[in-house]
Amino acid sequence: MANQKEIEAIYNWVDYFHILRLGEYADITCALFDGDFNKTLEQAQRDKHESILKGIGFKPGQRILDIGCGWGPILNAIRERGGQAVGLTLSSAQNTYNLNKGLKSRLQDYKTINPKELGKFDGVVSVGSLEHFCSEEEFKEGKQNEVYGQFFKFCHDVLPKGGKLYLQTMTWGKKIPNPSENTLKSPENSDELILARLRKFYPGSWLPSSRDHLIACAAPYFRFLSSNNGRLDYIETQDRWNQSTKNLYTLQKIFPALWGAARLIPRYFTDPDFRVQISSMDHRDQKECFVREIMSHERMFFERK
Ligand SMILES: C[S@@+](CC[C@H](N)C(=O)[O-])C[C@H]1O[C@@H](n2cnc3c(N)ncnc32)[C@H](O)[C@@H]1O
Repeated sequence: MANQKEIEAIYNWVDYFHILRLGEYADITCALFDGDFNKTLEQAQRDKHESILKGIGFKPGQRILDIGCGWGPILNAIRERGGQAVGLTLSSAQNTYNLNKGLKSRLQDYKTINPKELGKFDGVVSVGSLEHFCSEEEFKEGKQNEVYGQFFKFCHDVLPKGGKLYLQTMTWGKKIPNPSENTLKSPENSDELILARLRKFYPGSWLPSSRDHLIACAAPYFRFLSSNNGRLDYIETQDRWNQSTKNLYTLQKIFPALWGAARLIPRYFTDPDFRVQISSMDHRDQKECFVREIMSHERMFFERK
């Protein structure tokens, strides 16, 4: 699993610029265009929130758990609709941000919480977090199913029978990569080089093989309800994020952006892994993985048994 240090190594700085470009409670995961690329990114993110809450049968007054809550987009959407949401994150920057916004957020690994301590919830959501739950080492040791099984058990234990879980995650695409083939010495523009850079971008993280892999891991605890593949939506979301960089070129934002960049300069010269992360962003590796079908993306609803 990605630990707090690994999560913070990426989210605390990348998201500084993300929030600056996209505004409060910024979603840092795929939006729901559902093929309608005339929508604005903001509308597609709102549609995602709406579709998640509808899918889990949310009603005002209900209590919802968000595992991997980021900068609070779902916590805020639930608050706006009269619900009570609790978010868990491994990023101290995200947690502080959420608490300052009056949201209920905890800096806590879901794996270390006793479900009884949290109490029962009417629904659970986890958007773009499962990618971090299993590390490459755990995958190599054959522990991936156990890790996902424990996640589904945790969700099961905080839900009543019939309670809904929404899970949004990247998965591997056409084939599961072999970690030993993906080195930074791989040929330019090869799938292997892209994956090698991304492994540095998201340390401690490995993806599930497919939608069916997750359905099988969930089966002892959850009945699978539906899924919607989001690979093309993720390509569009990545393009919109890229375009949103122009939002920084305003008098109000350019100085915080320059200040944020200046603070990273010492790290750039002292941390080789950080330079790989920057290179990965420059090459737009994440988008390329969806274009080449190295990765896919699933949005899934489950019902607790
Ligand atoms: C890509 S962000 C997604 C944030 C948000 N859900 C969104 O859609 O914008 C992944 C989130 O998962 C959290 N996370 C990763 N592993 C976790 C764990 N074991 N326990 C709790 N949160 C975790 C990270 O701290 C981060 O908030």
